[in-house]
Amino acid sequence: MCGIVGYLGFRRADQVIISALKRLEYRGYDSWGVAVKHGNGLELIKRVGAIGDVENYSLAEGNIGIGHTRWATHGKPSEINAHPHTDCNNKIAVVHNGIISNFQSLREDLKSRGHEFTSETDTEVIAHLIEEEYRGDLKEAMMKAVERLKGSYAIVVMHVDKEELVAVRYKSPLVIGIGDGECFIASDVPAVLDYTNRVIYLEDGDIVKMWNNGFIIWNNGKEVERKIDTIPWSIEDSEKGGYEHFMLKEIHETPRVIEDTLFEYLSEDIDIDVSFSAGISEIVFVACGTSYHASLIGRYLIEKLTGIPARVEFASEFIYNPPPISRTLVIAITQSGETADTLEAMRIAKKHGARVVAIVNVLGSTATRIADYILYTRAGPEISVAATKSFIAQLIVLYLLALKLSKLPGSEIEKLIEELRIMPEIVRRILEHEEKIEQIAEEIANFEDMMYIGRGIGVPIAMEGALKMKEISYIHAEAYPAGELKHGPFALLGKHTPVIALLIPDETYEIMLNNIKEVKARESLVVAVADEDDAEVEKYVDFVIRVPKTNSVFTAVTHSVALQLLAYYTARKRGCEIDKPRNLAKSVTVE
Ligand code: F6R
Repeated sequence: MCGIVGYLGFRRADQVIISALKRLEYRGYDSWGVAVKHGNGLELIKRVGAIGDVENYSLAEGNIGIGHTRWATHGKPSEINAHPHTDCNNKIAVVHNGIISNFQSLREDLKSRGHEFTSETDTEVIAHLIEEEYRGDLKEAMMKAVERLKGSYAIVVMHVDKEELVAVRYKSPLVIGIGDGECFIASDVPAVLDYTNRVIYLEDGDIVKMWNNGFIIWNNGKEVERKIDTIPWSIEDSEKGGYEHFMLKEIHETPRVIEDTLFEYLSEDIDIDVSFSAGISEIVFVACGTSYHASLIGRYLIEKLTGIPARVEFASEFIYNPPPISRTLVIAITQSGETADTLEAMRIAKKHGARVVAIVNVLGSTATRIADYILYTRAGPEISVAATKSFIAQLIVLYLLALKLSKLPGSEIEKLIEELRIMPEIVRRILEHEEKIEQIAEEIANFEDMMYIGRGIGVPIAMEGALKMKEISYIHAEAYPAGELKHGPFALLGKHTPVIALLIPDETYEIMLNNIKEVKARESLVVAVADEDDAEVEKYVDFVIRVPKTNSVFTAVTHSVALQLLAYYTARKRGCEIDKPRNLAKSVTVE
């Protein structure tokens, strides 16, 4: 996720901005840049890679400037694509977070009117639009430019002729930091905390004009007052947005991640180019870990919704025994795009003549260079080793892909799409009741073994739930199809082994209840995950984690978010080091 900083005041803007950008490093970035106004010119610096020591850089002296850490979305990481972006005359500089979805048409339009573009980014159109609209009033020009933008954005702009900054927010966060004789604007609080703890969180549609000793906020053309908050956190706390761990913060980012991923591929209808699927007779997913579990859910969706046969292979096994590939589409799923086993599986698949699609989170990663076709998830950087929001983003892409390839009647597809559109709200509702999950976690935190069971789509959800539990709480957690218990795992059940049972509102429901009764007969404590309308399940289990009722296919989202929280609170109760579990790395770059 990109980071924005703007400064006006009495200090050297370059030093303030670079040190503030360092405070946003936790968000992840691949390149960065700063623009400072001096006299009636702009001085810019742009770099790829880490910032390093602030003292290494010195721009011209000036007290107004803007800066940016970039997490590439449109255009690879490079100095040219790094922000700030400028207009044709280098008078206007812009930094931006978010995605401008109509940038291609705007770019063409601006080019036809003589604007010259230097980068591949969506952001650069903003600088040129403001240039077109500028008649001496920067705020007016910004307002007019913004009217033409579709997408999500937090934008800060400066002009060489103005002793001011203008910013606007729509679906991407921005906070004002209020100092004494100085003003800050940033995408997150840590950027300003070295200088002030008085902040204003801007709201969607807010546009703000800032001077070194004041600011005005407008919304919908009217001046508005916004509450000033005093931040009580330390810098370290604030990087986590006040959450105790990145993992919890990232789980809470899920609704926004779903919105961003849907936004990327769903405007009026599903906007995925599936030309890669022409003539294929089967799909093989390759992935590792959590991405492997997303693949299992992908297989379920593809087979259920499209009828195309699909298989899932551990990337590390595919390497030794690639299945015969003829008219096969290989879909590699990887958050980092750098997992060595997955990359090798992709290379082998290509060598065997398969078409390879990558569902990937990190732009410019190695997987994006190997794949024939890329579908990005829009989860933003994930810092906690345990994958949470990126897993849900992978599911969202898989829903969209399966629905796009689906042969279901149009009305049924539309119903599912409508439900997909409300998934951010559904996840918000789960997060609002997380204290109930925390209470249940306290009941199971002292056990050393657990069993997760499900049927149908519940099986891969159970596998991912068990993986989350084991990797961060160090509790031995196994996942089984509920029907398999009687073929061996029953021997493990008893008072010492709680069972997490996933209830899916489909044809598996009744038989799952029977399985739960069998488990109870072995005296295991049972925690069920079930929907709010399910009045039956609580008769048979010890605790129920409730989630909003959805079509059964979307339980992969609802139940998984609940299980992520269960793992998180269990690990927290056990005092584990949640964000960096022992022996694990975020990106596994060795085979
Ligand atoms: C578990 C987890 C790992 C990764 C796996 C693959 O929470 O994060 O199991 O899912 O290492 O990583 P990517 O998706 O980056 O290929």
